[in-house]
Amino acid sequence: MTLINPPKRLSRFKDSKGFFLDEVLRQPVTAEAGLFLRVLDGEVAARPPLWLMRQAGRYLPEYREIRATAPSFLDLCYDPKRAAEVTMQPIRRFGFDAAILFSDILVIPDALELPVSFDGGHGPRLRPVTTAADLASLREEVDMGRLAPVLETVERVRTALDAGTALIGFCGAPFTVASYMVAGQGTPDQGPARELAYREPDLFAALIERIVAASVAYLSAQLDAGTDAVMIFDSWAGVLPRLEYERWSQGPIERLVAAVRSRHPAARIVGFPRVSGGQLIRAAGSGVTALGLDTIVDPRWAHGVLPPGLPVQGNLDPKALVTGGPALDEAVDDIREAFRGRPHVFNLGHGITPDTPIPHVERLVARLRA
Ligand code: CP3
Repeated sequence: MTLINPPKRLSRFKDSKGFFLDEVLRQPVTAEAGLFLRVLDGEVAARPPLWLMRQAGRYLPEYREIRATAPSFLDLCYDPKRAAEVTMQPIRRFGFDAAILFSDILVIPDALELPVSFDGGHGPRLRPVTTAADLASLREEVDMGRLAPVLETVERVRTALDAGTALIGFCGAPFTVASYMVAGQGTPDQGPARELAYREPDLFAALIERIVAASVAYLSAQLDAGTDAVMIFDSWAGVLPRLEYERWSQGPIERLVAAVRSRHPAARIVGFPRVSGGQLIRAAGSGVTALGLDTIVDPRWAHGVLPPGLPVQGNLDPKALVTGGPALDEAVDDIREAFRGRPHVFNLGHGITPDTPIPHVERLVARLRA
């Protein structure tokens, strides 16, 4: 990587809680400025741009240090200075081509007045929404005031990033967010939401539409605040058979994408229908700019069946990154080779895990930039 202007430390300041933070650093301009956006716009690049899902996270000691200063994970999401700082950490360390806003998909239920907690080391906990009365107790429209700190984080990060490094915003897909709201927690197969959808389709549809409207407002606000692209995480698309996939995943995403585009016609939107198998072909027609591919998608199959020229993102096995060495190199080369001739953003097939050694991430960066 050619550094044209090395990063500079700007200043230190003390925030309202008395904690010293370094003001976010200006990023080095690289010779490959803007690569991520160019590839989303259809360029077949000589080397794929790179970022990693969950790149700001517990595998980084500097993240764990800041995380320890926040009372809870959501407090960190709603603290613009600290959230901007952790968004920038992986960019500073690895020079990735894109930063992803530090937040969570579950701020949407939180802003519909269904409080979310991540306390105690387990996954998210919410009050389950399973009846019409539960739904009626939620806000009709998302509380944008609650989300204002997240939008301030976007502004801070966009100011701190070099023009060549993209900022990605995101939300969860309506079905994925609904599945946590119905179960009130993570589950192995989102059984509670799937059963509610069969049993009470009108209630489930009303919940989904509430989330669609909230997500339209939220993604539009992120684009207004300065994100260069947004990603829709449908982490649980893979539990739905054909009819249910059309009703609860594909249809709502199509409406979400169309509504965001009516306000931001040029918005770059990346879909990520995780473990959706053959439904991927249908997802390619949902109006998204690009598709994220999960770990088990065969890249050669995807390259063969997806519309020519549709940019893809993925799909290295997070376990290959944990393992490192020649196994990592082989997996990386196989994916690059498979997508030759197609716009391709290199990424994992799911989030980086806390046990990933940092030298393995450095090895991945070096191999892709060699
Ligand atoms: O990618 C990034 O670096 C940006 C930030 C980001 C987080 N969550 C931070 C986070 C993003 C894009 C997400 C998306 C998200 N959140 C998804 C979709 C992607 C996926 O992983 O399938 C989902 C399903 C969630 C909901 C969620 N958030 C769960 C189930 C959990 C608990 C499991 C876990 O990994 O701990 C979270 C917590 C969470 N979100 C953490 C981070 C960094 C860990 C919490 C901590 O640091 O204490």
